[in-house]
Amino acid sequence: MNKPTVIAGIIALFSLTLNAQSKAHLDKKKPIEERILLLMKEMTLEEKIGQMNQYNGFWDVTGPAPQGGSSQLKYEHLRKGWVGSMLSVRGVKQVRAVQKIAVEETRLGIPLIIGFDVIHGYKTLSPIPLAEAASWDLEAIRKSAAIAADEASASGINWTFAPCVDISQDARWGRVMEGAGEDPYLGSKIAVARVKGFQGENLGANNTIAACAKHFAAYGFAESGRDYNTVDISNSKLYNTVLPPFKAASDAGARTMMNSFNLLNGVPATGNSFLQREILKGKWQFKGFVVSDWASIREMINHGFAKDGAEASLKAVTAGSDMDMESYLYVAELAKLVNEKKVDVALIDNAVHRILRVKFELGLFDDPYRYCDEKREKAVIGSKQNHEGVLDMAKKSIVLLKNENNLLPLKKNGQKIALIGALAADKNSPLGSWRIASDDNTAVSVLEGMQQYKGNQLVYEKGTGLTIGKTTFKDELVFNTTDTSGFEAAKNVAKNADVVIMVLGEHGFQSGEGRSRTNLDLPGNQQQLLEEIYKVNKNIVLVLNNGRPLALPWAEQNIPAIVEAWHLGSQTGNAVAQVLYGDYNPSGKLPMSFPRSVGQVPVYYNNYSTGRPVNTDTNVFWSHYTDSEKTPLYPFGYGLSYTTFKYANLKLNKTSFAKGEAVKVSVEVTNTGNYDGKEVVQLYIRDVTGSLARPVKELKGFELTELKKEQSKTINFTLTEAELGYYDNNGTFIIEPGQFKIFAGTNSNEVLEAEFELKQ
Ligand code: BGC
Repeated sequence: MNKPTVIAGIIALFSLTLNAQSKAHLDKKKPIEERILLLMKEMTLEEKIGQMNQYNGFWDVTGPAPQGGSSQLKYEHLRKGWVGSMLSVRGVKQVRAVQKIAVEETRLGIPLIIGFDVIHGYKTLSPIPLAEAASWDLEAIRKSAAIAADEASASGINWTFAPCVDISQDARWGRVMEGAGEDPYLGSKIAVARVKGFQGENLGANNTIAACAKHFAAYGFAESGRDYNTVDISNSKLYNTVLPPFKAASDAGARTMMNSFNLLNGVPATGNSFLQREILKGKWQFKGFVVSDWASIREMINHGFAKDGAEASLKAVTAGSDMDMESYLYVAELAKLVNEKKVDVALIDNAVHRILRVKFELGLFDDPYRYCDEKREKAVIGSKQNHEGVLDMAKKSIVLLKNENNLLPLKKNGQKIALIGALAADKNSPLGSWRIASDDNTAVSVLEGMQQYKGNQLVYEKGTGLTIGKTTFKDELVFNTTDTSGFEAAKNVAKNADVVIMVLGEHGFQSGEGRSRTNLDLPGNQQQLLEEIYKVNKNIVLVLNNGRPLALPWAEQNIPAIVEAWHLGSQTGNAVAQVLYGDYNPSGKLPMSFPRSVGQVPVYYNNYSTGRPVNTDTNVFWSHYTDSEKTPLYPFGYGLSYTTFKYANLKLNKTSFAKGEAVKVSVEVTNTGNYDGKEVVQLYIRDVTGSLARPVKELKGFELTELKKEQSKTINFTLTEAELGYYDNNGTFIIEPGQFKIFAGTNSNEVLEAEFELKQ
């Protein structure tokens, strides 16, 4: 044996001896809480703090050890047991190698929890979350998250940084693509569906992963829609709009939360005790742990909230941020702060307890390699079944915005179709933002989807393009072009076509983190192309690709058919083609209002009445714009079908209710068109007078129902105190007597109306 081997042997023996004293926590028969305490008894302060430290994936773990730079530091920390979690390490081989260091080379052998941004699928991609929200189909959304969990867990991952449950009313903010839109009721239901999809019934199963509701809190209210910007909002907005989806996720058992980059009313969310200690861990009794956002602890120095790393760590840990993602601060500062008695060790213990609990629940102590099965990795990732699952989700996410003269569905035979637009043939853009584990250019393009319908003649012309560059990350930078050299060729094919399909909008990387926009139009010269083609052929179907609401008043006025197809993931082209050809009748509804212009933003349906809501005279002194209507272009909840639905007989079981009594509402819906179809029946209320003014409408129920041609159904809803009350400015949930309006309909604007009284 050579010298290093002998030394390694001695070290291994030494750590094994220590391990021998500390194996009690591995006894599966003991309850988890006891196992956590047994382990914590063995841990040094540094090892505890190590659990609170998360590093981003670094060198190829299966290769030689890194020399120099932050990778070497991370590697050394890992071997000392000073790293509790890694993010963005993926693939069984890599995860196994990194886990092996934690389990076999550290004194206590505590396994890592491996996190990853599984935002809308892992390798097989489902639609972006905003698109999925447009399905209003909670079961489909749950299944989509379950597919993502299945693939991610097969790749060694045990924790996703999803769902993003940020409510946002601002389409300029690029991260609206990650959430469920503008409404807290819909957002809460979807948050629960996603948490259940990721975590399943049993977190200990090897195909489920821990969820992380993010970004706590109010990140979606960044001023001017600019990412990472300041948030200043009222208590009412915080309690009634921002927090409900987080509470729903917490109640549904989400094991973790991520805090956010923004200031909230002057205090960074990461250093915010009111949010994390008082509300989350106090009032809501959240049992999981809170991870910071990427370097958000360090960023508190930039915010002007902490003078240095030590103060940032002190403030973050005091406020309840349990794990430090990539600030490198807890590991550097916390032990000193404890020794100087500036941080009570009880805070550290509490954080570590929370983190270890999730690791135990995931079964990592029972078998740290339980997610590292190469056979499963091969069988699950990209399976046929998963592709079928995301195709189903993609179809359900499409929203039909306009369909004049029944231009859609297309006939299957004998038509000449011109397909125009760079995004029509793009195999990368439809994958959308946040798809780190997917392979580039793997989406089925719209062109490929349409080519499968052979009965028509199909010609493709790009018309115009989007020039793509690279950022330091894998994400692409999209530059808009002014080049019109492809217009002529596109006009030529359009001239000779019966129908022109134009696939226009945002590239997949034009929304997402750091992609705020000041314009909500079609990027580059796509609008110009649209108008040029319109001059030669008016039979245009506009298929929109986008990660946020766009403002397209010209298209709404002139183009006969508009299909909202978002970024639909791996199966995009198949989903779009099936909808265009009528093999799938669209039923999606917008989860966010679409503005007429960027100047209207924020525009959202659950706004408040002003003192001057309507024009009662011919003067200008009422709440409006002088250059535009104030209503959105398409309201929240809007979406058409190839068939039509008629609403009638909105009924309440009584007109006056005692407090605590359930309010029963029914409405009759009839399919009056020529196709079988699905409809999302929506129920809204208005609390007419309150001690705080209440929104003009609030969604409080919905049902996705299937109706055959000519079929009628009575849809029933029950409203309880949970739906009739609201949070006052102290965060207390109150139910106030008085008049309520009830609305039921096909979107937030077209509704039937009834009224009732809630008695004292
Ligand atoms: C994002 C988070 C994400 C994290 C890790 C941050 O920049 O805000 O949502 O989970 O990076 O990738």
